[in-house]
Amino acid sequence: MNTIIISTASITVITAIFAVLLTIADRTIGNYGQVKLTINEEKEYTVDGGSSLLSTLISEKIFIPSACGGKGTCGYCKVQIHDGGGPVLATELPFLSQEELDDHVRLSCQCKVKQDIKIEIPDELFNVKEFEATVESIEVLTDTIKKLRFRLPEGEEISFKPGQYVQLKAPLYEGNDEEVYRAYSIASSPTEKTHLELIIGFVPEGIATTYVHHHLEEGDKVTINGPFGDFYYQDTDAEMIMVATGTGVAPILSLLNYMKDNDIKRKARFYFGAKTPDDLFMLDYFKHLEETLYDFKFVPTLSRIKDDDTSWSGEKGRVNNAIDKLLEENDNQEAYLCGNEQMIDSVVKSLTNKGVKEEKIYYDKF
Ligand SMILES: Cc1cc2nc3c(=O)[nH]c(=O)nc-3n(C[C@H](O)[C@H](O)[C@H](O)COP(=O)(O)OP(=O)(O)OC[C@H]3O[C@@H](n4cnc5c(N)ncnc54)[C@H](O)[C@@H]3O)c2cc1C
Ligand code: FES
Repeated sequence: MNTIIISTASITVITAIFAVLLTIADRTIGNYGQVKLTINEEKEYTVDGGSSLLSTLISEKIFIPSACGGKGTCGYCKVQIHDGGGPVLATELPFLSQEELDDHVRLSCQCKVKQDIKIEIPDELFNVKEFEATVESIEVLTDTIKKLRFRLPEGEEISFKPGQYVQLKAPLYEGNDEEVYRAYSIASSPTEKTHLELIIGFVPEGIATTYVHHHLEEGDKVTINGPFGDFYYQDTDAEMIMVATGTGVAPILSLLNYMKDNDIKRKARFYFGAKTPDDLFMLDYFKHLEETLYDFKFVPTLSRIKDDDTSWSGEKGRVNNAIDKLLEENDNQEAYLCGNEQMIDSVVKSLTNKGVKEEKIYYDKF
């Protein structure tokens, strides 16, 4: 009996000692104090150590693309760390090529700031701004897709290239206990600098899309930062082949709106792939663009419509089939694709089979 009491007491004492040691360790080892952050060898900041590099940069109002909100799953938050980044973590490796590793590229959301650190980022990221925008209107496009129009604060403007995206912050709400940023392509034209339009699809149990579809109302304020991205309009005279499915229509709309606003005279074809007629949207607007733009044709195609269904007179089949069938070969073409990975991979194949050069195919996968 005595042995049991002594053993129990000993375990309790040892556990208590461990708990105290862990608390002390957390308060001392985890407390890195203030450290110096140097960016591009010219800008210096004194910051509190202990957070991820991504969060530290955000607290200094420097916004790095972070489509997954810092979870280490998108691979967008790359920066070069020249000094003080510590060893590369296993969570970073799937996103870094050997060339990037040799160039000291790291995922900023995975690296903790523990000591003085020197990093390099593209200069344009210093132009990324954060806005408290107001939801001016919400339009239901399909059962699962909404178009939102935001007004920037009085006197503030955004400059971006058509095709780029912004990040929208989903705040805490009932059922969500983490703030996250998610990427959304801008659908409006860059000529309109005081407003932004986004097209956002609902993802069941998705943090940001549940916020947008079930909580956000007209008049609400949202935090948006941007612009980001290297998918954008190329200023050439090549024929443009545009392909999108679902919310991938957003950046294509920005390209088309930009061309309309600037009276750009280029041949453009837009293949919009959907499953059923209910998944298509803004058809009247694309018809209007056919009448307004210099040489634009809109080609909707449905993959889940029966061959004998006479209610649909447009193309049938997947969007890559429409390209196989309709695209005329020409040695001066460039393509803009936006949608899920599977669609992009099959369309790239169809385009290269038709002679479109791979380096002239631009895409955003989401
Ligand atoms: C450059 C870029 C531009 C983008 N532009 C747009 C845009 O214009 N419109 C738009 O609606 N989205 C766009 N996205 C996708 C968007 O950033 C989010 O990933 C998406 O809205 C889901 O966010 P969430 O927080 O609701 O879901 P999360 O909380 O991130 O995800 C919840 C769960 O759903 C899964 N999931 C996430 N996304 C999808 C999906 N699309 N389909 C099925 N399952 C999914 C996740 O793996 C997870 O298990 C873009 C992404 C990128 C990288
Ligand atoms: S923010 Fe997505 S991997 Fe870092």
